[in-house]
Amino acid sequence: MRFTAGPKYANRAAMTTKTAYVKTYGCQMNVYDSGRMRDSLTTLGYAETLSPDNADLVIFNTCHIREHAAEKVYSELGRMRKLKEARHANGREMIVAVAGCVAQAEGSEIIRRARSVDLVFGPQTYHRLPQLIAEHLQTGKAIVETEFPAEDKFEAMDQQNSALRPGRSVSAFLTVQEGCDKFCSFCVVPYTRGAEFSRPVAQIEAEARRLAERGVKEITLLGQNVNAYHGLGPDQVVTNLAGLLTRLSQIDGILRLRYTTSHPRDMDDALIEAHASNPKLMPFLHLPIQCGSDRILKAMNRGHGVQTYLDTIAKVRTAVPDMAFSGDFIVGFPSETDTDFDATLSLIETVGYASAYSFKYSPRPGTPAADHKTQVPDDVTTERLSRIQSLIHAQQTTFNRSCIGKTVAVLLEKKGRDAGQLVGRSPYLQPVHVEGPETDIGTLKNIAINDVGTNSLSGHYGVVKQ
Ligand code: 5AD
Ligand code: SF4
Repeated sequence: MRFTAGPKYANRAAMTTKTAYVKTYGCQMNVYDSGRMRDSLTTLGYAETLSPDNADLVIFNTCHIREHAAEKVYSELGRMRKLKEARHANGREMIVAVAGCVAQAEGSEIIRRARSVDLVFGPQTYHRLPQLIAEHLQTGKAIVETEFPAEDKFEAMDQQNSALRPGRSVSAFLTVQEGCDKFCSFCVVPYTRGAEFSRPVAQIEAEARRLAERGVKEITLLGQNVNAYHGLGPDQVVTNLAGLLTRLSQIDGILRLRYTTSHPRDMDDALIEAHASNPKLMPFLHLPIQCGSDRILKAMNRGHGVQTYLDTIAKVRTAVPDMAFSGDFIVGFPSETDTDFDATLSLIETVGYASAYSFKYSPRPGTPAADHKTQVPDDVTTERLSRIQSLIHAQQTTFNRSCIGKTVAVLLEKKGRDAGQLVGRSPYLQPVHVEGPETDIGTLKNIAINDVGTNSLSGHYGVVKQ
């Protein structure tokens, strides 16, 4: 869809290519969403620029999950005001847009706090981006769009994006499920992303095929509760994540499949069995529990206890002995005691993670936990965070070291920093550095691992000599 320049931008008629800068904060779903917005902008005739300095359009795709993430956006917007004023003084304009979860949560408050902002739109209205830009260009007025419209956003974007950007990556994200109905007491997602929704199978398959045609070899299916996926199949029968993965693994050119993030309550037998039987499904499972205390899990409204989680891990390990686990942990949740925290450390010891993320609890406005009377003092939370991170780091190092002397299949993704070096990923999601020809990018190679760095492995082509 093309738009006509309105009065505010009349002097731009003579300009040639418009440029857009998109900056992403937060989770992988935001990375995916930014990619879809970039596709829409290509269709609209915008060329991508990697700096806001000379951009006609700047979009911040924001994250509201923790306070820190949201505040970063406001400091960027302050910088944009200066850029925008400087451009205006030179007779050029800049549209500043705030998208994503901060946009959804704060709406018009953003325009009040940051007057440089022209567009505010939430994650459910990305498909309306062309209309929003056109309307703003016509009227020059700020627009706030935070509805949850009835139309299918994905369908609308599929139709819009006739001019897909050239494929650049070997590995791509594909959102299959969005939103959440679980209402953990700390979490903003049910409010910012809305109710749980699964895309239909045929729509996902079509997108996966398009990715494969653009040279993508690995697809990571995304969803806030991806293993709760229950999309309608072409035969009008509801399909679970295991069924979807089976279908996607039949697409020519797709070598690897992954999915994230899973909820322990939705880790069903069919999905575990899919790991055991589908060689394209990688042995890596991000399965956050958040903490190791039953009392806190209850206060978090997680809907399961520690034992259920450990039973699930055991079941997965029985089916897939080399499964690598990852998780998320929140420390300093309201009322968390030393005993509760020790239980978290002990759970981490029991599971043995290949990697994990840990966060200080951040009270989010509107969530039940934010009103809890017993917030944990910051110095206590800081100390707990440092202890949990040391433990996780030690486990990650142990896991990485356990790969030395083994041969792992690595999907080579891009050139490394050093000349002649390539970087890929192991089945367990570890970055692997290796010397090899650029023509091998996009292929799977057996790499003999002979060294580990802080967060990565390195090795050489071939198999380990016994
Ligand atoms: N404070 C800190 N961490 C949070 N997360 C979600 N909400 C909060 C919060 N209010 C973490 C959880 C989740 C990950 C995406 O972010 O660990 O799994
Ligand atoms: Fe941030 Fe969660 Fe929104 Fe992703 S879904 S952008 S992590 S708040």
